[in-house]
Amino acid sequence: MKQLLNMEDVQVRIKTHTQEITALELEHLTLHEGELVALVGETGSGKSMTASSIMQLFPTQKAYIGSGRIVFEGTDLLTCSRKQLDHIRGKEITMIFQDPMSSLNPVFRIGDPIIDVIRTHTGVSTKEARERAIQALKFVGLPDPARMLNRYPHELSGGQRQRVMIAMAMVCEPKLLIADEPTTALDVTIQSQILYLIDKLKKEKGTSVLFITHNLGVVAKMADRIAVMYAGRIVETGRTQAVFRSPRHPYTRMLLDAIPRISEERDRLPVISGRVLSPAEVGGGCRFANRCPRVTDQCRQAVPPLATVGDWHEAACFEPLEEAR
Ligand SMILES: Nc1ncnc2c1ncn2[C@@H]1O[C@H](COP(=O)(O)OP(=O)(O)OP(=O)(O)O)[C@@H](O)[C@H]1O
Ligand SMILES: [Mg+2]
Repeated sequence: MKQLLNMEDVQVRIKTHTQEITALELEHLTLHEGELVALVGETGSGKSMTASSIMQLFPTQKAYIGSGRIVFEGTDLLTCSRKQLDHIRGKEITMIFQDPMSSLNPVFRIGDPIIDVIRTHTGVSTKEARERAIQALKFVGLPDPARMLNRYPHELSGGQRQRVMIAMAMVCEPKLLIADEPTTALDVTIQSQILYLIDKLKKEKGTSVLFITHNLGVVAKMADRIAVMYAGRIVETGRTQAVFRSPRHPYTRMLLDAIPRISEERDRLPVISGRVLSPAEVGGGCRFANRCPRVTDQCRQAVPPLATVGDWHEAACFEPLEEAR
């Protein structure tokens, strides 16, 4: 499989009033062509920061990339020219967000930004761009796409707006789509339709997808590989099936145990005790040490690096779980 995106030693730092914190410390993450990788982890674990660092668009001006390499098809996005970067993000890499209302401008008709994006990146005529926009709205299953182009965001439902966002993100046939919690604001039936759509994009257009979610269950069927994040670091990566069948990091094990299964009768769901340390509280050791049942002295003193534990399988743990048979 050909590599599309390769992130190495990416550190994102945030300046607060009193101090500077490291919000993300990512050793490595690779995406291949046509692959769907799910980035999972609880709130504050650094999923959105990972996406922001690829796009170099942060939610706060206080955040910046301290170091690292983010190589997309041979170009390091952190050192390339602004012109190159602007071409790549928008054309080759696009993103959809959790809340489409905040990304669609309420004063423009739905079609305006889509036609704009097509014209900017392909240079086709307005007429041709309009035709492509209609095709994109059709692909995402919006009814009466030609008329839809002339409607305003507030005239659409949440699910329809999310479809417009996907249409906008896919219209120039990007090589990589980053979807940051694209379904959390939607009800369950619409959620599964949006997931189906992203899967269709991957299968029919060969688009690689970085799919961000806090819900492991959502990605079980869709993702080729999973990267689990905890407190700003990736703690485990592997093929989806392998990670589900045999998680090697104690945190992944706990995350999986927390997914309710209908077939099981349980009085209570297991709870992961303790809480995530904030970046400011993190000492020299493993960030999961304060919640880990397998903790040793070594874990409190040094940060375990992401190490190979199996075929395509890595875990950042000094005491990884045995491989399940
Ligand atoms: N606007 C901000 N100002 C200060 N710190 C921030 C800001 N956004 C994020 N952080 C810090 O960066 C860390 C990673 O945040 P990030 O937004 O990537 O988490 P996430 O995994 O996307 O969580 P969620 O599931 O809630 O979206 C957080 O723990 C927080 O300390
Ligand atoms: Mg987030």
